Order: sequence, then C-alpha cells, then structure tokens
Amino acid sequence: MDGTQKLKGAADAPFYLPQADECEIFRAAHANSLPLLLKGPTGCGKTRFVAHMAAELDRPLYTVACHDDLSAADLIGRYLLKGGETVWVDGPLTRAVREGAICYLDEVVEARKDVTVVLHPLTDDRRILPIDRTSEEIEAADGFMLVASYNPGYQNILKTLKPSTRQRFLSVEFDFPTPELEVEVVMRESGLDKDRVQGLVRLAGKLRALKGQDLEEGVSTRLIVYAATLIHQGMPLERAVLAAMIEPLTDEEDVKRGLLDLVTAVFG
Ligand SMILES: Nc1ncnc2c1ncn2[C@@H]1O[C@H](COP(=O)(O)OP(=O)(O)O)[C@@H](O)[C@H]1O
Ligand SMILES: [Mg+2]
Repeated sequence: MDGTQKLKGAADAPFYLPQADECEIFRAAHANSLPLLLKGPTGCGKTRFVAHMAAELDRPLYTVACHDDLSAADLIGRYLLKGGETVWVDGPLTRAVREGAICYLDEVVEARKDVTVVLHPLTDDRRILPIDRTSEEIEAADGFMLVASYNPGYQNILKTLKPSTRQRFLSVEFDFPTPELEVEVVMRESGLDKDRVQGLVRLAGKLRALKGQDLEEGVSTRLIVYAATLIHQGMPLERAVLAAMIEPLTDEEDVKRGLLDLVTAVFG
C-alpha cells in the first residue's frame, strides 16, 4: 500500500524530462512549505516527476496509493499488538511529518472522506498533524511537503475534491508530453531506435484523438514505453502494439479492429 524510497541527491535521481515549468513550481512550493496538487491523466509522468524531485531535493519520499478503503488511520498510524504489548506504529504520513520528508498521496480522491480532514491542518500555516489516539500534535519538520495527485478525467459527483480541500494546494496540470518530448522519453526508457519510437508516438496521437468517441481514455506514455520495451526485446511490432497499446484500451472486438487499421496506416 505504501512504499518508502530514499534516494540520495540529484545524481541518482530517476530520469524525468520536464514538460514545462513544473520543476520550478515544485522547488518553489517546497522552499515555501506549500502543498502541491498534480492533476492529469494516468501514465503521463506524475509519479516519476515526484520521485525525481524528491531525489533532487534530497528528501525521503513516502508514496501512498490511495483507494476507497484507505482511512485516516492508514496514513497516521495505529496501535498494533507486538509480543503481547500494544505499541503505536506511525503511518507513512506521520513518518513524513516527523522526518521532514515528502508525502505523496497518489489518486487522493479515491481515499475515504476522513483522510481529507486529516490533511487540512497540515495544509494551512500551522502545519500540524493532530493524532487523537495518542493525544499528540506533531509540528511538521522542516522539509516536509504534501503532494497529491488526481485524474480529473475520472471525476464524478461522488469522487471529486471539495473546494475547501483543493483550494489549499498549489496546482499544476499535467498532460501527455508533446510528440517531440514523448519520443525522447520513450527512447530513453526503452532503448528502442528513434524511427520506430516516432511511429509508436504517431500511433498514440491517433489513438488519443479517439478519446470520447470509441475510447474512454487515450493511450498513456506508460503504455508506449511498454510497447517500445517489448519491441526492443525482439517481439514483433504488431504483437507488441496489440498487447501494450490496444488491448489495454478496449474490450470490444469491432473497436479493436478499427484500432488495428490505424496501426497498419502508421506502420504500413
Ligand atoms: N516526462 C517524463 N520523463 C520521464 N519518464 C516519463 C515522463 N512521462 C512519462 N514517463 C514514463 O511513463 C511512465 C509512467 O509515468 P508515471 O509517472 O507512472 O505516470 P502517472 O503517475 O502520471 O500515472 C514512467 O514510468 C516513465 O517511464
Ligand atoms: Mg502515478
């Protein structure tokens, strides 16, 4: 559910190619102890961006993938039985607050309502985390930063961030990179040659144009990287594209056939 990553310094930072001025915004937010919200479709680089920035700023990173069962206790901590004794165990948010780390709540709208309540005192200038169960009130250590992401495309009436929550965050909008940048990202991630990567990115552009008509979501950068990785390892192009860029998008046979026609149009 949560993963901890300690990365040391910019030299070891995972590769991230900026799309615009998001790195500057992140640095400014961190320097001024402001929380940051990343909006954008799945697979466009949000998680990679946060991992990169945490490494650059030399901060530990606690990532929590939110889901509809995630409660405040999962973030804050709970009493657990250990060898006949009950001991308090900090959750990832509490650890980040104590250590001055970056806490990244991925897909924050998925979390239960009590989670957002916990975030409020951390996102105003008090920067405190009250823990009812232990009667503690922890002040966030220097360097602590709250980052959250969500995909506005999945929004429905039940799952959206309340204005009282979203207006506590600086926000940056992400989208899929421009074709030139995306070619660079996919080459770098997969090792595949420029020619074939350019073809895959062109195909992705055509698939994305179908969003809202035949497809609910366009193909993500992540899926292009998957296709390119399979091709680089020797899988025939058409097989790799079917497995990585077509099957994940639709279950309908006639839509699939239409998409395969696009593959032929791009690659001949
Ligand atoms: N700007 C970028 N720089 C480097 N890699 C990227 C970039 N955008 C997308 N990627 C690639 O796409 C993959 C998926 O990105 P990820 O950060 O997991 O997406 P998200 O968190 O938005 O769903 C990454 O693992 C990486 O290979
Ligand atoms: Mg992610």
